[in-house]
Amino acid sequence: MKLLITGGCGFIGSNLIRHLLQDTNGTLRIVNLDALTYAGNPANLADIDDPRYRFFHGTILDTPLMSRLLDDHQIDAVLHLAAESHVDRSIEAPGDFIQTNVVGTLSLLQASLGYWQSLSGAQKESFRFLHVSTDEVFGSLEGSDPAFSETTPYQPSSPYSASKAGSDHLVRSFFHTFGLPVLVTNCSNNYGSYQFPEKLIPLMILNALEGKALPIYGKGDNIRDWLHVVDHCRGLEAVLKKGRVGETYNIGGRCEKTNLEVVDSLCSLLDELAGRKDFSHTSLKTFVQDRPGHDKRYAMNIGKIEKELGWEPQETFASGLRKTVLWYLENREWCRNITEKNYSRQRLGIIV
Ligand code: NAD
Ligand code: DAU
Repeated sequence: MKLLITGGCGFIGSNLIRHLLQDTNGTLRIVNLDALTYAGNPANLADIDDPRYRFFHGTILDTPLMSRLLDDHQIDAVLHLAAESHVDRSIEAPGDFIQTNVVGTLSLLQASLGYWQSLSGAQKESFRFLHVSTDEVFGSLEGSDPAFSETTPYQPSSPYSASKAGSDHLVRSFFHTFGLPVLVTNCSNNYGSYQFPEKLIPLMILNALEGKALPIYGKGDNIRDWLHVVDHCRGLEAVLKKGRVGETYNIGGRCEKTNLEVVDSLCSLLDELAGRKDFSHTSLKTFVQDRPGHDKRYAMNIGKIEKELGWEPQETFASGLRKTVLWYLENREWCRNITEKNYSRQRLGIIV
């Protein structure tokens, strides 16, 4: 398999590349294309020294570059993760989200379609375009509502989720209109190593370690479904290998928690693993102004992927959160480089 992974220097992309490279049986080749925005960090993959892996610095908006990469490397599948991913930033500056998530996805689709149409035989038959999306496209649930299924109508409520919804529709339109063999996944909140500390879990860990306030939006009663990032990577691999063309698969952790529950769990772990006798991290909890349009609850029905592809989450929230806290404790240098914004913006590898 020769894979083009977009956004491979981000949180999920870098975990996915590590995960896939663990399998040394096949003839895997990975091309990672990343624009190295503020969220793309070459340090996430700096220790990867593997001839099967290559990095290219560039943007998905550059259609000719995408076409060249696909053609030069005779790509068998595109795994599209590149995106602007943070809801709060989409409220501040929605334009970047439309550019990258909607226009960028269109650009990648156009390049992929042209490449796929140039293929023939088994290579054309087996080509896949896997689009990695989010549960946020479905909107917000009330407490007693059933979980989102693959057929739940889209009702995005933030500029981020609206831009991801737009990209999902474009991907499906390329299947229906042109026959491009696409797969779509919608996943719930990920957590784990290498997550940029603007997202709830790493932000709380790093603030707590520095004795800073832990800013909880509103009453802290919003609910998210949490999935360890490696379980998401396993899910993406299953969909790529066994998913039915044109289908959508929900991926989630069956692990609904209020934000307050998440922060309390983190504080307990930090008290245990990095605590001081006279102080509990819970004293840092601070309720702040709510996020505008804050979705109340997400929950995922994952019956389809479980039944069809035999995937299910392996990590419990307790074990996954402990591993995550330990990773941040053991990687303070990575954290410092991010928070001081002095991580290298230089690309690694080859200029195209
Ligand atoms: P991230 O913000 O950590 O990483 C995004 C990556 O995309 C970065 O490396 C960035 O440099 C790159 N990128 C941004 N614009 C680009 C462009 N124009 N061209 C090429 N590269 C570009 O995001 P993440 O959390 O790893 O999310 C990855 C994908 O998974 C996104 O599509 C996101 O919507 C989706 N997703 C995320 C979660 C989650 O909980 N984090 C859950 C479900 C789905
Ligand atoms: O559901 C999947 C989505 O999960 C992904 O598509 C997004 O890319 C990813 O960013 C994430 O979105 P959320 O908005 O759910 O994640 P975030 O970590 O920003 O916030 C999680 C919850 O915590 C949310 O209810 C808002 C709240 N929160 C967040 C921050 C950053 C706080 O209370 N305080 C904070 O400081």
